[in-house]
Amino acid sequence: MVKQQLVYEGKAKRLYQTDQEGVLWVEYKDSATAFNAEKKATINGKGRYNNEISSLIFQLLQHYKIPTHFVKQFSKTEQLVRETKIIPIEVVVRNVVAGSLSRRMGIEEGTVLSKPVLEFYYKDDDLGDPLINEDHMNILNIASQDEILQIRKMARNINDILINYFNKCDVRLVDFKLEFGIDHEGKLLLADEISPDTCRLWDIATNQKLDKDVFRRGIGSLTDAYAEILQRLKEVNQHV
Ligand code: C5P
Repeated sequence: MVKQQLVYEGKAKRLYQTDQEGVLWVEYKDSATAFNAEKKATINGKGRYNNEISSLIFQLLQHYKIPTHFVKQFSKTEQLVRETKIIPIEVVVRNVVAGSLSRRMGIEEGTVLSKPVLEFYYKDDDLGDPLINEDHMNILNIASQDEILQIRKMARNINDILINYFNKCDVRLVDFKLEFGIDHEGKLLLADEISPDTCRLWDIATNQKLDKDVFRRGIGSLTDAYAEILQRLKEVNQHV
């Protein structure tokens, strides 16, 4: 496998073409951004933790027959994925109130939701990724009715699998963000990453934050938090 030209550089990753048709090479970066890139930093080791954690989680989801873009982990900071056309929505699943839901609804952070809440955000930095609904998605031609249905179903399945997995790690899965893409055969795949950058993860006993809120809120060492998550996932993985 040979890394070829850069096709995309985002806030946390670089994507390269490879000599294999339809396979992209992903490099996780050490940069951290928050609040639509208003807060930025370089954090040594962050790329490695996110790559390792996301690789473990995608392998777990594949084990449960969730179709994903993940091919394999290639090195500590790199992985191979199938090329997809990313649907420009961020799908957020929430089990416990936190972050923007707490601000928008005036509900105290930490309130447990009686059932998971699913939200869609339109991926557009200039607009600040607004919250949208299915009617907006139809108007914007973002996804077909059938794709939205599949996305909802997959997001709920993924939530069930991950709640259980993190529970075994003594971690509460508060909320997380998913992205989906369409491959060259028109198949819907889970794409992007699932890591402490894209989830809220609280220690089950103490509610200590073990995710990107540590950076957003400046409340400790991000790498210590991510290292803790990776270690707990690895320990549970040995017994799966
Ligand atoms: O900020 P908010 O409360 O809406 O975030 C919900 C979840 O989605 C959090 O886990 C956050 O880390 C994730 N998220 C993300 N990328 C974004 C926005 C939110 O990974 N652009």
